[in-house]
Amino acid sequence: MSGGVPVRAGYSQIAGHLGGPAFLPLRRDAADGAAKPLIDLTGGVPDEGVLPYRSYDDATHAVLTDAGTAFKSVSYIPPAGIGRLREQVARWRGVSVDNVLITDGAMNGIFLAAQAMIDPGDRVLVETPTFPFALRIFRRLGAQVDTLALRRGGADLDGLERQLRGGARYKAFYTIPDFQNLTGEVTDGAHKRRLLELADRYGFAVIADDPYCDLWFGDDEPAGFPQGYRQADDYSPLYEIGTFSKTLGPGWRVGWVIASADAVRRLAAIRLCVDGNGSAIGQYAISRLLEDPVWFDDLLDAERRLYRGRARTLTTALHDTFGGSVLFDEPQGGFFLWARLPRGIAVDDVRVQDALARQNVLVTRGDSFYPDRPDASYVRMGFSAIGDDRLREGVHRLGDALLPLLR
Ligand SMILES: Cc1ncc(COP(=O)(O)O)c(C=O)c1O
Repeated sequence: MSGGVPVRAGYSQIAGHLGGPAFLPLRRDAADGAAKPLIDLTGGVPDEGVLPYRSYDDATHAVLTDAGTAFKSVSYIPPAGIGRLREQVARWRGVSVDNVLITDGAMNGIFLAAQAMIDPGDRVLVETPTFPFALRIFRRLGAQVDTLALRRGGADLDGLERQLRGGARYKAFYTIPDFQNLTGEVTDGAHKRRLLELADRYGFAVIADDPYCDLWFGDDEPAGFPQGYRQADDYSPLYEIGTFSKTLGPGWRVGWVIASADAVRRLAAIRLCVDGNGSAIGQYAISRLLEDPVWFDDLLDAERRLYRGRARTLTTALHDTFGGSVLFDEPQGGFFLWARLPRGIAVDDVRVQDALARQNVLVTRGDSFYPDRPDASYVRMGFSAIGDDRLREGVHRLGDALLPLLR
């Protein structure tokens, strides 16, 4: 990968190839010296103020003072996770406990799933644009990565079917089905079903990385994958990756994989040679929190309301500042807005980078998210962790930076 650390004696090839950032904020050097305080729209974390620290404190305290959990929470646990949390996630997601493996967050889930199916030289398909850290995992395992365009309602399955009929074969397809990080796109129910039917017919796995699916802004949650594929015993092409990172905070490092019971057993066996097992105390504390499902539902409701309001503030500010010259879809959930910059403005243009740095506003370069043909006309803005006034100020500064370049 370009930008990697050069390979040197004593390091593996992988250690050489994985250096450098996976994606880029716009230039920071000039920004760091600017007079105005930084407004950073690159984040993908929950809002600091919405997280319930008191409940975290109570749950952790309870786990460490309860004789039934105190020692267990600082001891080794099974590689598939503690039974109680597996059961709670299974009940919440409508599958059997045998279909659930608890992970150290979504990245760990993607890594384990990828290890279960990818051999060096295998071809893996990803939708574009996509989350570059997942790409790194596939490449790190020696996969050749091909791309499929993401459209409204999901990836281009007509194109995929044509390729498959023509003889192309893939080991896995990686998708972020709901409120996609980056575009906010939701793969609709019909697409989800058709994708799995293709996966069954042509023998590839679907890694559905779904960190944002609980953070919807409308009346209804996104359609799920068909139930029959979600609770298989022997085989299913579907590996659903979930995480508490976006709802309870990424520092917990707790997530899950839902897959066939057979796959869950294999992932647990792989995990024994990765890190043995996850951190027990986080799993015990989260399990304690989930014992009160009303508490969790109320938290999710509060988060949806907060992020829906922030998305609206951001889109209103963009309309007010840029009129129709910045193009975007209203986010329907999740943390991000994907915007096409005014015609003639591109993030790989030094003039644009300088202008934004002078305004001390950071956005994430869209061209980092294409493994093949980078498109420099997009930026990603994260609205989850920035208050309304700062969001408005950030857009105002984007206008001050970019609008003069259009004249
Ligand atoms: C699509 C996607 N997958 C995975 C992750 C990583 O999640 P975790 O912190 O649970 O590993 C993120 C976080 O930004 C993400 O956006």
